[in-house]
Order: sequence, then structure tokens, then C-alpha cells
Amino acid sequence: MTDNLNKTFAQNILAKNDKGKYTVPTLRLYPYQWNWDSAFAALGFSTFDKERALVELESLVEGQWENGMIPHIIFRQNDPDYFPGPTVWQPPPSANRKVSTSCYSQPPVLATVLKELLQTDFERFCERGHILFKHALRWHRWWHHERDPHHTGVVGIAHPWESGRDNSPDWDEAMESVAIDPNLDKYQRRDTEHVAPSQRPQQVEYDKYLSILKFGRDNNWNSHIIADKGPFWVADPGINLILLRANRDLLDLAVKFGEQDAQKELLSYIALAENYENSNQGLNALWNPKVNGICAKNLRTDKFCNNFSNASALIFYANFGDYEKKTASLKQIHDILRKCNFAMPSTDPAYFSYEPQRYWRGPIWLVMNYMIAKGLSECSSNMTESTKSTKSDVQNSMKELGNRIARDSLELIKRSGYYEYFNPETGTGIGGNDFTWTAAIRLIYN
Ligand code: GLC
Repeated sequence: MTDNLNKTFAQNILAKNDKGKYTVPTLRLYPYQWNWDSAFAALGFSTFDKERALVELESLVEGQWENGMIPHIIFRQNDPDYFPGPTVWQPPPSANRKVSTSCYSQPPVLATVLKELLQTDFERFCERGHILFKHALRWHRWWHHERDPHHTGVVGIAHPWESGRDNSPDWDEAMESVAIDPNLDKYQRRDTEHVAPSQRPQQVEYDKYLSILKFGRDNNWNSHIIADKGPFWVADPGINLILLRANRDLLDLAVKFGEQDAQKELLSYIALAENYENSNQGLNALWNPKVNGICAKNLRTDKFCNNFSNASALIFYANFGDYEKKTASLKQIHDILRKCNFAMPSTDPAYFSYEPQRYWRGPIWLVMNYMIAKGLSECSSNMTESTKSTKSDVQNSMKELGNRIARDSLELIKRSGYYEYFNPETGTGIGGNDFTWTAAIRLIYN
């Protein structure tokens, strides 16, 4: 029997998906460079080839737009295996004159990965690291200005794809009011040729994804129009919590690089998101009392989604919220894990639209697990906010939970291999196989 956990096995998957300067998530299903996949690939490479890890990030920032956005896909060639490919998007020619890209972004994990890479070998990679730092800063500025034009501390996403959690029930309510554009060009999906349709988004969702895309394209990807009038404008707990974490990590790097203006700027973004003075401002506005967790909110209607998703569990990763919010979220995770065999389902199994096989509506994704476990482990050692006698119990519980989630991630690979996602009840691997970020997660753990 193959030992899936063998690190050489994982390294070979990275090698198989390696295109020289960048890595594809997996062959055929995703034949281009994806934003957060690439950042996680860099983490994987960093465990055995730091130079290659840096190159991965450098190729990612080649996709950066004039306005600071780092797009979710970089198309370096045309590949008929994927739709919507490079010809569909039509970004303004001035957006990026070097490479062809999509026109949405993705979770900003770059700064956190960069900080991790520079933790050792700082001198060796200082100059290149500093350039990457500047790219990341411009990207964070884009999020805070273009995706939060009224400076509320909460950034919006303009498309479910921007969240990286494409068909999560977190968007269902907002997607209901997205009309299918009657002038949508005829198109042929490619994803369902590679993976069983029962493991992918539904057709009606795809029509809506393309209708939202068409709105952006028809408006020349003007971010003001998109923020004001776009058919989809939602606060994603994932993006908001990942961005807060990334701002903190970028701030640490700003200190290391002696970048004083950047420090001030980043502190202002952090303060805006944390906004501890006002319980309804900043990310506090995403606290859903009905669920007791940070939840998605439709920013057009201010309506919450009542799903505690795996993105809600990133509250620890962002080190956001007071003792009450953290302990309430901890309880939620415990309750959810009682309902399935493996951690951490993307949707609460008790939520009415949970589907254990369908993409982000139930399956486990190991990059999310990695961030959740990391957050729990860090918070268990840094929790200083409370002097309550229960503190050490809570710390232990966080630590154990973090360990369990990390253990389950490895167990899933051991049983099923390097799949894109996993069924939280059976542990079966689903979606694409030989997946880059799943291999990267294997390499990160000892
Ligand atoms: C899917 C995922 C997204 C990921 C991409 C490539 O679209 O939802 O998060 O980046 O595949 O793996």
C-alpha cells in the first residue's frame, strides 16, 4: 500500500504541477495560476526549496493590476480545458500590460506567507522580500479602498469566486436576487467534464456567476460602479478575517523593513477592522447573534446568513474579538465537530443547505483547516484578554481542537490521497486529485 504521507510523494505532486515559475492547482481542471493556491504552494516549496518558494510569489505579483488588485487567476496561455478562460474577461488594457488575468481577487494570504518565508533567511531574501512586501501593501490598500469605499472596516466581495469559497451557502441569500442576464453568451462548462457534476456548483449558479461577471465586463471593471451597483456585494467572513491577519503580518514586516508610513497605514486598517470602541462597527458588524459567530452578510440588504462556515472559524487566525466572541466560536466548532467524523466541514451539517459532497457546501478543504488550526494554536498560547478562572480550560480546549484539526488533515491524506476536498462524514477524497495545496499542507506539517 502506498504511504500517502511520505513527503517525497507530496513533493512529487508539486513537481508535477510545477510550470517553472508558478504552479497550477492541478492539471486539466485548473490549468492556470490561482492566487491563494500559489501562496500556499510557496509555503509547501519553502519546506525544501526556499528559492522556488520566492519565485512562486514573484510570479504571482506579476499579475497585479495598476490599481493594486492581485487577480484570482493569471492566464499565461489559452487552455481549452478551463472555462471562463482569458478571452471572456476583457480587463481594461491598462490594468496589467504584462499578463492576461481574471478581474476579481481572492483571499489575501500572500503577506502571511511572505512573513513566514522571511522568518528564516531574512538577510538572504531581504531585497526580494521587500519588493514583495510593497506589492502586498498595494494589494491591501486596494481591498481597503476599492472594496470598502466608505471605510467601514468591512470589505465586500463582488463575486462568490472572490471569496475562494465559490458555492458556499454563505452566498445563497444574495445569489437569490442575482438575475440571470438574458444576453448571456452561450457557453460550455468544462469543470463538469473533469469532475462529477454532483461535486460541483449547480448550473443555475454558474449562469449567475457569469451574469455577475458580465456586469463587471459591461462596466469596464470600474470598481466604484461594482461596489455601488454590482449584482453581488457581500461581506465574507473569510476575506475579512484573512485580511485582518494579513495586515498584522504585513505590519510586522513593515517594522522589519523600517517602512514607517506603511506601519501607520496598516495600523489604521487594523484599527478600523477591530473597532473595539463600537460593538457594531468594523468586523463586529459581522457578529451574528443568532448563530454566535462571525457570519457572511449581504451588504445590499444587511441580512446575515445563518451558517457557521469554516470561514467563521478563522476568528482565531485573525485574533479578532473579545473573550466572549472567542469562547462562543469555540463552542460552535465543538458542536459542529460532534456532527461529523472529520474536521472541519465547510458548512455546519445542521444547516439546511449542507451537502457533504458538493464543493464548498460541506466538504473539508485542507487550506482552511490549516489556517483554523494555526489560529487556534496561536490563540491558545496568546490569550491575555481574560483573567477569568476558566481561562486555562479554554486555552486547553483551543489547543486540543487545533491539534485535532491538524491531525484530521493528515489522516484524510493518509486514507484518501491528495484530493481537492474531502467528505466530512466518510473521509473520501473528492474533486480534483494530485492537488497542489493539499500537498503543500502535507509538507508544512512535520
Ligand atoms: C476553486 C476554489 C478556489 C481555488 C480554485 C483553484 O475555484 O473554489 O478557492 O482557488 O478552485 O484551486
